[in-house]
Amino acid sequence: MKFKVPRGTQDILPSETWKWQQVEKIIDELCDLYRYKEIRTPIFEQTELFQRLVGDTTDVVQKEMYTFTDKGDRSLTLRPEGTAPVVRSFVENKMFGYPDQPVKLYYTGPMFRYERQQAGRYRQFVQFGAEAIGSADPAIDAEVIALALDVYKRAGLKHLKLVLNSLGDTECRTAHRKALVAHFGPHIGEFCTDCQSRLEKNPLRILDCKVDHGHPLIASAPSLADYLNEESARYFEDVKSCLDNLGIEYEVDANLVRGLDYYNHTAFEIMSTSDGFGAITTLCGGGRYNGLAEEIGGPSAPGIGFAMSIERLLLAMEAEGKTFQEEPALDVYIVTLGEQARQPGFKLLGELRAAGIRSEMDYMDRKMKAQMKSADRLQAQMVILLGEDEVAEGVVQLKNMANGEQVKVPVAELIEKMKETLLG
Ligand code: HAM
Repeated sequence: MKFKVPRGTQDILPSETWKWQQVEKIIDELCDLYRYKEIRTPIFEQTELFQRLVGDTTDVVQKEMYTFTDKGDRSLTLRPEGTAPVVRSFVENKMFGYPDQPVKLYYTGPMFRYERQQAGRYRQFVQFGAEAIGSADPAIDAEVIALALDVYKRAGLKHLKLVLNSLGDTECRTAHRKALVAHFGPHIGEFCTDCQSRLEKNPLRILDCKVDHGHPLIASAPSLADYLNEESARYFEDVKSCLDNLGIEYEVDANLVRGLDYYNHTAFEIMSTSDGFGAITTLCGGGRYNGLAEEIGGPSAPGIGFAMSIERLLLAMEAEGKTFQEEPALDVYIVTLGEQARQPGFKLLGELRAAGIRSEMDYMDRKMKAQMKSADRLQAQMVILLGEDEVAEGVVQLKNMANGEQVKVPVAELIEKMKETLLG
């Protein structure tokens, strides 16, 4: 076979799509419950949008973007994440002027990152994300976290851990940044070339470097927690109180920095603590991004959100042995005998479907016995047997596959009778 699915991507086959649909249903229902409205942005955006908003020094922008030049000589990038596009759309469509603030949005769609493939890490993956833009109320931070956790809970997951941190505001970050430069500066030669260039541009990134993560200076680096000013510390306390009010447990981790540049104040991740889960335990990540809308010329519109991949959610379900209910079986399979019965059978199929009865018939010229086998394989609850005699008489044989009972039913009464059987 010459062609294969591209590395880091996967086909989601019909045996799997049922699960995806169930997850998407949970997402849609919960977003409706929390009153988040769906937004659909393009799969690609101007490259500069991600450079500016996600950050030039992040791995996502430096190493992982699928960037191309189109025929009009524009640099475009397949979206590696959904927050920058949503904020772009918020500003472009002047959603800050909507009477109903904050604007609460959600999205589900493919994202693209050129990453090393491993279990739970793909080059194309589907993120469900939610963003609440326009409010700096700590309660909305807690709401967003509650929504993410509810998705996992509805999917049946129990082994979850919420990890929380505050990244403070610009003032705290400037002070912390200075401390980091002083800490790493004298020894920067011991770090990778990426970290060397991060020192001046964004020393915080050194803390989540995949190459140098074991370096002792990372463990002893000054903690942001020690640089939080009063306002940031108070905000963080308020977020924690709101979580307490919702009965949500969390762990504070002063080393949680997140891999994207736009965060301030609240940052969080939800991890799987299930034994069966692979090396990557983060299911969901998010945080606050005040100032992001201004960064692209919009007004001040503080925001918070999260994103999770459906792939990792399904892996976590597998690790915890959770499954969705089976797809509902077929209502009826029409078995026809002889050429004369074929067209009437086909006509009946159309009528049954019009009545909302999930029906199927044979398109492979199978003999009666093989048609019965198909009906079994598809777990049809009923079988309609239609031979030339039945056609002549205007009746069908209706067989209940659960108890084997077979009755003769006039075609005119068939749908009524079937609905009774299906409901019963
Ligand atoms: P992120 O931490 O880069 O944040 O990604 C969020 C989630 O997307 C991860 O926790 C994981 O579930 C999933 N994910 C990321 N990369 C991959 C991959 N290669 N394969 C499979 N799943 C992956 C963001 O993207 C932010 N936009 C989240 C956010 C929204 N912050 C505020 N609002």
